Amino acid sequence: MKVKPTIASKTFPVLLALLAIVALISCSPKEQVAKYNHSFKPGEIWVDTDSVHINAHGGGILYYNNTYYWFGEFKTAGKGGNSAQVGVSCYSSTDLYNWKNEGIALPVSNEAGSDIEKGAVIERPKVIYNEMTGKFVMWFHLELKGQGYGAARTALAVSDKATGPYTFVKSLRPNAQEWPVDYSEELKTKEYDPELKWWTPDWYKAIDEGMFLQREFEGGQMARDMQLFVDDDGKAYHIHASEDNLTLHISELTDDYQDFTGKYIRIFPAGHNEAPALFKKDGTYYLMASGCTGWDPNAARLFEAKSIWGPWESMGNPCVGEDADLTFHSQSTYILPVQGKEDAFIYMGDRWTPKNPIDGRYIWLPIQFVAGKPTIKWAEDWDLSVFDN
Ligand code: GAL
Repeated sequence: MKVKPTIASKTFPVLLALLAIVALISCSPKEQVAKYNHSFKPGEIWVDTDSVHINAHGGGILYYNNTYYWFGEFKTAGKGGNSAQVGVSCYSSTDLYNWKNEGIALPVSNEAGSDIEKGAVIERPKVIYNEMTGKFVMWFHLELKGQGYGAARTALAVSDKATGPYTFVKSLRPNAQEWPVDYSEELKTKEYDPELKWWTPDWYKAIDEGMFLQREFEGGQMARDMQLFVDDDGKAYHIHASEDNLTLHISELTDDYQDFTGKYIRIFPAGHNEAPALFKKDGTYYLMASGCTGWDPNAARLFEAKSIWGPWESMGNPCVGEDADLTFHSQSTYILPVQGKEDAFIYMGDRWTPKNPIDGRYIWLPIQFVAGKPTIKWAEDWDLSVFDN
């Protein structure tokens, strides 16, 4: 018997064909290429696996269990977008080109008076893993809500999972009532004229000697732009701009990474360095930093030492070529050791866009060792194969 075709049996194949076309269009190779990154294009919009510009500024990377985790400041659009409206973001990747949004690792608090209240300044978050406790430890630069950049604190949050959520623990000014190692007895009690005019030779001398260090001795040293570094022996260090951004401090963290031991040094007093990014190659420590011009770029500086405790020596600007004097319109945030490749380090910088902070761009460039000196050149489009030669 012949079955009479119904409307349903007539339209079904048409529907199927339509669905197939829609499916084909939505996963056409063009779309996949647009979503999938195969190289670094510094300064361009860098989309995550949801095709959204990555939102992790002033970032740092944790490598754990064959995965890279990128933590950064989640910025918002327009005026006020540089204060923390959302929190610290986290992305994960196994190839460094393609990043999956893992959500907000540390959300701001809605509680009035909380240190991390919405509207506070949360900058340059860094996460390290502590083998002993099995905890992921995040430190970040914190400015309390409504106080501009006056609080100058560092803050701690911990989690049992790399991606979080992180629990806020405390904020503090480090090394209260501790003098830096090798600080002379004589300077500890030296008196200074509080009216000394800034930027005069006498003032420089006083800063060099530790006038501001002394000023903050009781309550703890100022801590703004920061980074964390874990050495080969598992010891971790907190590196930050202190003394009104005039002097960098390197401080040792306790074995659980959740406190300061009180051991620290000052680097280049009155050198006016910030945005520290420390890395180590073949037993030598390198520290990259910027000058202090707010969101505007300036020339980077590089320092070198055989021991993290110094002496540190100045190596000048690591950038070469056009716009080297502006760090290619960026400011350092982290130097990333690429896993599985020898002598492979990536300079990670931010190209800030303070008028619309969410639009800030990422400047990732390979570090080359030219006659032993870490050197950074501009590259429009590059991939990890540069490290194979
Ligand atoms: C920069 C600093 C940034 C942010 C900014 C605020 O110098 O590196 O992290 O604090 O100032 O103006």
